[in-house]
Amino acid sequence: MPFCFVYQSGILYTPLDEKPKSTDPRSLKRVRNIRENPQVAVVVDRYSEEWSSLAHLMVRGAAHLLEPADHEHAGAVAALREKYPQYRAMRIHELPLIRITPETFTAWGDLSAGPRQDLDVMDLMRGRRSVRWYTPEPVAPEQTRAILEAGRWAPSPHGRQPWRFAVLTRPEPKEKLAAEMAATWQLQLALDGQPEEVVATRLRKAHDRLVDAPLVVVLCLYLDELDAYPDAERQESETTMAVQSLGAAAQNMLLTAYGLGLDGGWMCAPLFCPEVVVSALGLDARLIPHAMLTFGHAAKDPVRRPRRPLDELIILDA
Ligand SMILES: Cc1cc2nc3c(=O)[nH]c(=O)nc-3n(C[C@H](O)[C@H](O)[C@H](O)COP(=O)(O)O)c2cc1C
Repeated sequence: MPFCFVYQSGILYTPLDEKPKSTDPRSLKRVRNIRENPQVAVVVDRYSEEWSSLAHLMVRGAAHLLEPADHEHAGAVAALREKYPQYRAMRIHELPLIRITPETFTAWGDLSAGPRQDLDVMDLMRGRRSVRWYTPEPVAPEQTRAILEAGRWAPSPHGRQPWRFAVLTRPEPKEKLAAEMAATWQLQLALDGQPEEVVATRLRKAHDRLVDAPLVVVLCLYLDELDAYPDAERQESETTMAVQSLGAAAQNMLLTAYGLGLDGGWMCAPLFCPEVVVSALGLDARLIPHAMLTFGHAAKDPVRRPRRPLDELIILDA
């Protein structure tokens, strides 16, 4: 039978959906089966119209019922509700879950991560995470194109699109940029009063993060085509709007990369030395580099930063 599940810390959890009050979920056929023989098999199937990406994974393992009083229950319910919003309105927290400890995995087909095709916009926003370290696998040219295309569609003040993208994939320009920014990084870290060995480690990490990223997009502001005002105050607001829209372009790119099965990260370093970036990359002097986005295949899953509850963010709902 088809079912919903989450896979967390090596354990698979699947809920017992709400049934009419008269039915005790513990009397369900699958629960009785597990009681009789806890050995279960689960097949996770990835279907795609593109047959070269078809895959399935058979997991065999031992199942048992996890009661709401068990300490693992709340975490599993939270993960299920994160993955399936429908469960947020259902009382799965009051019902047992089926907990499966995998023992063997049998795979068929292409198990590489592939595009996250099934994700809707909300899933993409929730799933996107900042990745700082990548495998050496390159980003395909068509994926790079799709990421840049997504940036193009960001909202912008007066529709002026006040951003330009410098795309770095070859090692030499990335090395040159890292080398030239290193001087600024060193100066700033020293100004912060950091000990020498800390400065050295952070410099090395910043260098590697940039150079080892398969794709780097430097997002630059281009203010020349924005509205001109006689007063400095409105001009500054105009610039702020451009910066805001650069953030929107960045988010479009990050979400698109995530949807393509890639990951992205944000480095604000150019903000602190825009002229250095312009000179290192030989860019037009009217451009103001603001951020670097790195893209590639995540070397490992990063630890996610928790989000504030929505009620804390809504400060007025009048
Ligand atoms: C404007 C901006 C600047 C950022 N600068 C950096 C940065 O310089 N280095 C870095 O590692 N992450 C940077 N980040 C990423 C944040 O640290 C990250 O988004 C945050 O920790 C939340 O994690 P998440 O993106 O995985 O949800 C930046 C994010 C934004 C929006």
